[in-house]
Amino acid sequence: MSQRWLILGATGLLGPCFVKEIKDRGYQAITAARSNADVCFDLSDQSQLHQTLEDTKPDSVINCAANIYVDLCENDPAGSYLLNTRPLSTLADWSRENDKPLLQVSTDHYFTQGGNNPQSEDAPVDLVNEYARSKYLAEHLALTAPKALVLRTNIVGAQKGHGRWVKESLLNKAPMTLFMDFFASPLHVQDMARISLDLAQKQANGIYNVSSRDVSSKGEFIYAVAKAMNINPDWVIEGTGHQLATKRAMCLGLDVSKAESTLGYQLPTLEETAKKLANEAL
Ligand SMILES: NC(=O)c1ccc[n+]([C@@H]2O[C@H](COP(=O)([O-])OP(=O)(O)OC[C@H]3O[C@@H](n4cnc5c(N)ncnc54)[C@H](OP(=O)(O)O)[C@@H]3O)[C@@H](O)[C@H]2O)c1
Repeated sequence: MSQRWLILGATGLLGPCFVKEIKDRGYQAITAARSNADVCFDLSDQSQLHQTLEDTKPDSVINCAANIYVDLCENDPAGSYLLNTRPLSTLADWSRENDKPLLQVSTDHYFTQGGNNPQSEDAPVDLVNEYARSKYLAEHLALTAPKALVLRTNIVGAQKGHGRWVKESLLNKAPMTLFMDFFASPLHVQDMARISLDLAQKQANGIYNVSSRDVSSKGEFIYAVAKAMNINPDWVIEGTGHQLATKRAMCLGLDVSKAESTLGYQLPTLEETAKKLANEAL
């Protein structure tokens, strides 16, 4: 496998897990973000991306950088395109011209039909907001390179975002409305990095779902985390994801059988993911 990895978006929720996993495997990790990284630049600026690829000469690139905030993307579609989508054209050119792997971290935010049934990689998509549009187009740009691996996922971790909110809210008995009609297959970020690198090691390319192997509602997942934390969440309210300001796709459970077949092992369960989040220090 490649020795020198450039990790774009290395300082967010997921990026640091890739950095750690790469170093643990004995490879070199070059981190990139707008600040606090080996290379600091704005990924929306294509000339700076070109320069970074030229200067760092990576063997593989992982792109974890994105504007993940659905409401912000909705209010700034052009900015969202420049960060979430446009760089993938440059990265795919780099991958093709140098015959090197490109890992694009994508999303599960594409499915409005099917309730809690798992969605396969070729399930029909329904793009209901700018975030989904920007990420879906990015997949297509990435896939113009034969060595592109597009990783569709739903991630949680205690350091940031939804997973941190869940843990803090449970610990503080904060008011919570649990969405019982919004389905997903959350995977812990550490498992996401490990499994994605295993797929890269197998020289997988194309689209792969990388998530937990179970589908649950957002509410069921929070109940599972509460159980793993020995907390009785008797104050929470059950509700609907339809109340969110920007429209969401809500049938986001992923079918991981393709990844399991390529890897020859089972991906984590909902319970394992909930336990991992529960046991992770804030
Ligand atoms: N979090 C989720 O729930 C979730 C679910 C499914 C899929 N995903 C996907 O997983 C990937 C990683 O998500 P995450 O949760 O780790 O995101 P995150 O925590 O928001 O991290 C984003 C990273 O991108 C960098 N970044 C942001 N704007 C940038 C810019 N203009 N130029 C250069 N770097 C920039 C950030 O650092 P600076 O701000 O310092 O630049 C940070 O390192 C994304 O592709 C996302 O679409 C996330």
